[in-house]
Amino acid sequence: MITYDPASVPHPQMHGILLSGVAPRPIAFVASRSPQGDVNLAPFSFFNAFASKPPVVAIGPAVSVRSGKVKDTWRNILDTGECTISAVTYGMLHQMNLAAAEYPHGTDEFVKAGLTKVPAETVGVPYVGESPFAMECRLIQNIELFREEGGNGNIMLLRVHRIHVKESVLTDGKIDPRKMDLVARMGYHWYARVTPEVCFELPQPGEKLGIGFDALPEPIRRSPILTGNDLGLLASVLELPARDPSFAEIGSNADSIEHELIASNPRGALDAALRTGDRSPWTLHRIARAFLGRGDLIGAWQTLYLAHPEIAP
Ligand SMILES: Cc1cc2nc3c(=O)[nH]c(=O)nc-3n(C[C@H](O)[C@H](O)[C@H](O)COP(=O)(O)O)c2cc1C
Repeated sequence: MITYDPASVPHPQMHGILLSGVAPRPIAFVASRSPQGDVNLAPFSFFNAFASKPPVVAIGPAVSVRSGKVKDTWRNILDTGECTISAVTYGMLHQMNLAAAEYPHGTDEFVKAGLTKVPAETVGVPYVGESPFAMECRLIQNIELFREEGGNGNIMLLRVHRIHVKESVLTDGKIDPRKMDLVARMGYHWYARVTPEVCFELPQPGEKLGIGFDALPEPIRRSPILTGNDLGLLASVLELPARDPSFAEIGSNADSIEHELIASNPRGALDAALRTGDRSPWTLHRIARAFLGRGDLIGAWQTLYLAHPEIAP
């Protein structure tokens, strides 16, 4: 492990290190307006939501370390107390990047980046028409970070007064991440695109208290085959399931263990193992993993009981 003390790492290096680990970050496409009426648009990945009742988000426009110049976005929101934030999709990636250029004060980046202004309801700043998700926000508070130490950060806390969502990203009335096609900022110049293949659902355990790693029987916890994720799944049962003797009955004329595992057919692999008399723990642990891969926790536990009959309750 390499350990960094931010106090002894030059700022540009610290920036890259920090933002590589605090990633992926959503990108706020922030539109603001000067008191003279000049509209401004710029991306900010120091951005997140911090509360939902009422909705509060924050952005972090920095003061330039090189020039000491403040961002137009920061100045405008301090002056007018208003902004809109639109989500950035892959389809507007290069337009977003254009809008990040340091155009002179007063430049309208909607025009520079060729994006559509949609009038907001509660603030005098438009949002990005191409975005499937936009918020109308008012400044709650600006926090200047460590100026006395030469710090360049700010946190602008913003209350959300309206949210606009395009119907095209809904499935059964809910926002579907697979339809949003969002991009996220990683460290250095890296980005990530949230394609449908990378999305998955994982319900929170809530009040369901899994038995936990510490209650996993020793031969399971020490398995060289089962991974941290496998053990996490096995430890999520509310209690060890009862042993089902019928599980050891050969149910099919299965192919070889390996063929069945490649075909993601754990029951077939188990039948092949039982038919050939291969009850070695590691073979059975591999088959248990395959059950877990199919979301079959009971199948996994029953297979592990065949490997270690003494652990069954
Ligand atoms: C994806 C992306 C994310 C960015 N995030 C931030 C950020 O969180 N804070 C910041 O100060 N600058 C950030 N920038 C740089 C600003 O967008 C850039 O300085 C811009 O010119 C500021 O515009 P303004 O002066 O019109 O507000 C980011 C740039 C990109 C491309």
